[in-house]
Amino acid sequence: MKSLIYAVSLASAMVVSSASAAAAPVAQEASTHPVPAVQDTETPAQRDARMGWWRQARFGMFIHWGLYAVPAGVWNGKPVDSIGEWIMYNGKIPVADYKKLASRFNPAKFDAHAWVALAKAAGMKYIVITAKHHDGFAMFDSKANPFNIVDATPFKRDPLKALAKEAQKQGIKLGFYYSQDQDWTAPGGAAMTYDKLHDGHWDKAQQGDFAEYLHTKAIPQLKELLSNYQPSPAIIWFDTPTAEMTPQLASEIVTLLNQHPNLIWNNRLGGGYNGDTETPEQNVPAQGYPGRDWETCMTINDTWGYKSNDTNFKSTRELLRTLVDVASKGGNLLLNVGPDAQGVIPAPEAERLQVIGKWLDVNGESIYGTGPTPFPGDHGTFSTTEKTVGENKPKWIPAWDWRATTKPGKIYIHLLTWPGKTFHLANVTAQIKQAYFLADPKHAPLTYTQKGNALDLQLPGKPIDSNDTVVVLKTK
Ligand code: GLC
Repeated sequence: MKSLIYAVSLASAMVVSSASAAAAPVAQEASTHPVPAVQDTETPAQRDARMGWWRQARFGMFIHWGLYAVPAGVWNGKPVDSIGEWIMYNGKIPVADYKKLASRFNPAKFDAHAWVALAKAAGMKYIVITAKHHDGFAMFDSKANPFNIVDATPFKRDPLKALAKEAQKQGIKLGFYYSQDQDWTAPGGAAMTYDKLHDGHWDKAQQGDFAEYLHTKAIPQLKELLSNYQPSPAIIWFDTPTAEMTPQLASEIVTLLNQHPNLIWNNRLGGGYNGDTETPEQNVPAQGYPGRDWETCMTINDTWGYKSNDTNFKSTRELLRTLVDVASKGGNLLLNVGPDAQGVIPAPEAERLQVIGKWLDVNGESIYGTGPTPFPGDHGTFSTTEKTVGENKPKWIPAWDWRATTKPGKIYIHLLTWPGKTFHLANVTAQIKQAYFLADPKHAPLTYTQKGNALDLQLPGKPIDSNDTVVVLKTK
């Protein structure tokens, strides 16, 4: 399956506006991969076993944290447009100047326990944190390259070690995001651009050979990430592959990944490898990706990495219904937080996560381990004027009426907008045996009539939860 992630990623990241699409990855047939990946060789049963926990999880925490939290969106006193972790690129900051940020990075308030506890309280089942973003700064102890948090900052500690320990203690999976392709401070690392005729570099210090960068930095660092942490990461989350990542070069990374048979990795490696998961960014596709595992990644405000002046936080209601929308289409939501330079997750982000967690405490049964909606039809329309960010296709405008998720013998109806005293459902092919509110511990029966495939449910005047009141329809 081809992926359009370049375009999506770039459009959200770059200040340049361009009608031309970014280079699309070259999709290859599995049989032509220079080195077969686990997805090419495993049986469907092996695949189900490998993906099992991830499919149950439905909700994870993305953490974008790095040196970019120090300028926090402002350079030389001026705000730099677009997402925080791209400040070096968008501000065309010279390599030497950017590297100096390391001496100012001392996140004294970093608390691995608190971060993991927040993810748990939010009902998230896994965490994916930036081990190295496009700026090339390693947030871990790296012998392969000195531009890292232990060697180059006054902090001198490896936060990933602490997080791995806490994640294990608190029973949550941990994965590492690693920018394998773009690296703006290592000679030879890629810098993307819309304009395929020129590369996106802006400083002579960036010049070099891509293969050499891979051999001397990216691959050795990936080895470190895969072998220095206990337990070893559950996920490697690649990003923004460019044309530099040939099938041959990507296959060298695949050789390494293949040594970790339980590992899950996404579709952003490049070189024609499809990985395990589709990764729509900042949007939930109309129908999900039937037959493919997928995960929407999304920001709570408009940036991944911390920006002091971005307070455009989505409401809890919006975030919660996005989670429900994703689950109803069989996907996961990887919701981002951007800790600041002190190591603190901004309070407005933490507060929203707490509220979602409270809802999940009551209604988690209708999210975790659920299957997609049994009801055909769309909840929304394609815009006739707007395009999906970075993609040349119409933007999907969701309707926030209701959604459904399923488990064997149960259909969960998520009422996102209270329908009034009756709720009508067409296309109910199963015989309904019982209906009740999931939030009602007594499971007091709700009145309904079923005629043919039409179901009419009688409801009280007010929702139990104004964000999402879940009705359970038992079919067995
Ligand atoms: C994009 C951006 C990046 C961010 C990522 C999250 O690819 O380049 O900054 O990490 O999206 O999905």
